[in-house]
This record gives sequence, C-alpha cells and structure tokens, in this order.
Amino acid sequence: MRVIDPPASPVVLKNGKSLIMLGSNNYLSLSTHPDVIKAAKGALDIYGTGTCSSRLLSGTTSLHVQLEKELSRFKETEDTLLYSTGYMTMAGTLSTLAGEGDVILSDQLNHASIIDGIRLSKAQAKIYEHSDMTSLEENLASCESDVNKLIVTDGVFSMKGDIANLPEIKRLADDYGALVMVDDAHGTGVLGQNGHGILEHFNMENQVDLVCCTFSKVFGSVGGAVGARKEIIDYLRFNSRPFLFTASSPPSVVATVLAALQVLERSPQLLRNLRQNVNFLRKNLEELRFKVTPTQTPIIPLLIGNDKKAFQMASQLEEEGVFVNPVVPPAVSAESSLIRISVMASLSQNNLERALEKFKLVGKRLDLI
Ligand SMILES: Cc1ncc(COP(=O)(O)O)c(C=O)c1O
Repeated sequence: MRVIDPPASPVVLKNGKSLIMLGSNNYLSLSTHPDVIKAAKGALDIYGTGTCSSRLLSGTTSLHVQLEKELSRFKETEDTLLYSTGYMTMAGTLSTLAGEGDVILSDQLNHASIIDGIRLSKAQAKIYEHSDMTSLEENLASCESDVNKLIVTDGVFSMKGDIANLPEIKRLADDYGALVMVDDAHGTGVLGQNGHGILEHFNMENQVDLVCCTFSKVFGSVGGAVGARKEIIDYLRFNSRPFLFTASSPPSVVATVLAALQVLERSPQLLRNLRQNVNFLRKNLEELRFKVTPTQTPIIPLLIGNDKKAFQMASQLEEEGVFVNPVVPPAVSAESSLIRISVMASLSQNNLERALEKFKLVGKRLDLI
C-alpha cells in the first residue's frame, strides 16, 4: 500500500516526492472542488460526524432522503436506495434479489462486488466470456425457460475501461425473459452528453431494470446507490442485509455527494476538460507507439503483456514523478497485464506533457516502444 497525501489531486505527495497523479478515479476532480468541500463542512457543523445508527432506526436524515430523490431524477429511475459503499450496493442488491433456483448471468470481467453478491445470493452463476454476446446467448439458451434470470454487467469495465454492449445485452434479455442490472460505477458523471452515465450514452434511459453507481469515483466520496422500479427498491429497503444492518452514511458524506451532483450538472465544462485531457493523452501515447487499447472513457489501458514489466513500468514511472496503477493477475491474465491510466479534469496541460515525457523515457528503457 502506497501512502499518498492527498491522493486525489493532480499532483500528490508520496514520501515527500511529488507525483503527477494518473491513477485516481476522481475523474471530474470534484473531491477537491471548493463548493463540495464547503457543503461537507456545513453538514459537519449541523449534524456532527456520523449518524451512529442504521437507516431504519435513527440513521435517516433529510439529506439521505434528498439524495435518493436527486439520484432518481438524475438517473431517471422511479426510486433509489443508498448503501454505505459501492461494494455493498452491488453485493447487497444481488444477494437480496436473487436466490436458490435463480440464475445470474455475469460478464467474466465484472467487479468483485458483483462476484461476491452472486456468491451470497446462492443463485446459479453462469459466467459469459467478456463482452461476448454469443457466449451470453449460449448461456441464456442453456437455462430452463421458466427459471428467473438476471444479467449483470459493469457499464465501464474497471480495469480495461471498455464499455459493455448494453443495447445487445438488453435485446438478448428481452428475447430470453431476463432482467438486466448495470453497475455504472465508472460511467456515472462521465458517459453521455450530460454525464448521466451509460444509459444516456446509449439513449437507453429507463430500459434496464437496475442501475447502480458508486460515490467513490466522480462524486469524490464514498457510498453507492441502486435505482429501479419502486417495488424493487421497497423490497431492497426492507430485506437487503447490507443496507439494514450497517450504519448509514455520515451526513457530511451525503452532503458531499449532493453538492458534487449539483456542480456536475451546472458545470459542463468539467466534462469537456476531462474529455480534452483524455483525448490529448491517448493521442500522444498512440503516437509514441504504446499499445493503447481503444476506449471511450477516462480509463486508458496500456497493454504491457507481462506482469513483471507492468510492475517495472509503474515503479520506474514513479521514480520519474508519475503515478500509475499496474494491473496484473488475478485482476487480468498475465499476458493481459497492463498499466491503467485514469485521467482527471483538473490535470493541466503541463502535467500531461511532463507525464508524456516520462512515459517516453521509461517506455524506451523497457523496450515497450
Ligand atoms: C465497477 C465497480 N463496481 C463497484 C465498485 C465498488 O465501489 P466502492 O469502492 O465505492 O465500494 C468499484 C470500485 O472499485 C468498481 O470499480
């Protein structure tokens, strides 16, 4: 574990050394936005540091209720339920809605919170090849026709940054009578013209059964939410153990997310800055002849193809003043080892140019370009 203070700024400090941060999910840089910080401080003054209770006891404040309403509006869902982390959102939703005798069809590269939710649910898991719609269809076809089926997918895959083929998933779900759940952790605030996420990206608002998000990426905080029809959310509200049996999010956290949502909606320039930074970095890395996997998200994967080299690349970049995350087994197979660059709106042109110089230097040294 690398100790970094503070971790989500364009330039961070590690052991007194400054590093350009290309490894944070603070895509719109909202965790350091003055209005967001002010809202968090304001809530601390009024509410103190925590609710000291779960939601169904004394842990629901008007801020929690307001955030559920605001997210329902933003995500165009009938209702929304907050969880204390993104992990608990996926695990809690899946383990509550599915049970023995049901089938959950899950992309091979789905996030661990989904995998654990499936395990907890005791439903039968059918894992289809990553984003392979033939594999998904074969798995659907192998289910008994009258069994309850749920297809679950990351919207943006967290390690490789690619986007799920949601239109095709939905078409297959309709053909085979399955529900669809999408984990929009990395798409919320980032995809679609207004940053509403993967459903806006594909013009598929209201077309999936469950849409989840986390507050630990664009919203610059911690927590998560699931949006769905009212009857589904009501069921989760009274049956989902990771919702029921844990303390509710501190009001300062909820106020942070509410303020981040407001800033996101009134400042389209942030998303434009982010996209400009992503395009600039991607284009220049391609020109340097790195193997850049094509993505339309702020996650830029550089294929290294060897886990040892991926570690070397990350540690040499760090020596040169750039922070990136190596992605190695078990997150991906050894031959798919990669450097995961994640981009923030607040990185300056100077930050990006300096980082590119270092990529060139280390890439040549390691015979990658
Ligand atoms: C796709 C995906 N889903 C869920 C989570 C879990 O969210 P959190 O870290 O907010 O608990 C993450 C975070 O790494 C993620 O990338």
